[in-house]
Amino acid sequence: MSFSEQWLTLREPHDSAARNGKVLDAVAATFAIQSGISVVDLACGTGSTFRAVSLVLPGRQNWRLVDNDLSLLARAKPASASSEIHVVTQPVDLQHDLELVLDGPVDLVTTSAFLDLVSEEWLERLITEIAARNLPFYAAINYDGRASCEPADPFDQAILKAVNNHQLTDKGFGPSLGPQAAVKAIELLQRLDYKVTKGQSDWVLRKADTEMQTEILSGWAAAARDLDAAAVTEIAGWLTRRRALIASGRSSMRVGHVDFFARPPAR
Ligand SMILES: C[S@@+](CC[C@H](N)C(=O)[O-])C[C@H]1O[C@@H](n2cnc3c(N)ncnc32)[C@H](O)[C@@H]1O
Repeated sequence: MSFSEQWLTLREPHDSAARNGKVLDAVAATFAIQSGISVVDLACGTGSTFRAVSLVLPGRQNWRLVDNDLSLLARAKPASASSEIHVVTQPVDLQHDLELVLDGPVDLVTTSAFLDLVSEEWLERLITEIAARNLPFYAAINYDGRASCEPADPFDQAILKAVNNHQLTDKGFGPSLGPQAAVKAIELLQRLDYKVTKGQSDWVLRKADTEMQTEILSGWAAAARDLDAAAVTEIAGWLTRRRALIASGRSSMRVGHVDFFARPPAR
């Protein structure tokens, strides 16, 4: 599955505003007394998590940004130039070569908007490998299945049901965990005695966020069409009504996410 640079650029400020502050504080507190840190960001896209998390970490930072999309990796860059922050990019298909990227000097593993794409089997593999290396893990902007539009349309719920079913389809890792990904990850980590800090990180889209709302709703309509969840005319009618609400400045939305940070017992 591929993600466009335009989509990742559009969503980054919304992700940044949504990131749970309590969870980020827990990350910052864990590394506050370290003079330097090495981080691996899984499925980095253009580096949204790197730009957000590097702001709360101690001065000298080595970041390895990993993704299988070369054009996204080419655009991964710091928010501002700093001699204290060193970044390398690594093209890797995480379905095949996960273990490769966790080896070497690593203090923290991060990811965002990724775990809902993976299968239960792959998530178990990830968490086993992270725990075997005694590593902390920060995972942000995990879609959790909650979404609402204001004002409501009678067809919203049918579309949302289709979106949540589409979330479970294969995105390259086998059947996806979709909205259950964070719940499952936290359960596995706690079973390994990790201490977990979690909190909501919903997108709260206001009337002025027209481009973001339009993109999300188009994606939802495409998901419903993919699954033949309703007649094409019904889906198109719903999208036309919702777009009209956006155009007239009356639409707002909330899309539910969860962030978490998990610390191994020995740290
Ligand atoms: C929704 S984007 C999130 C990107 C970034 N973390 C962010 O928050 O903006 C999902 C990312 O997963 C990456 N991805 C999907 N499958 C992958 C795989 N098999 N190996 C490595 N990266 C993968 C995509 O290329 C994309 O950059």
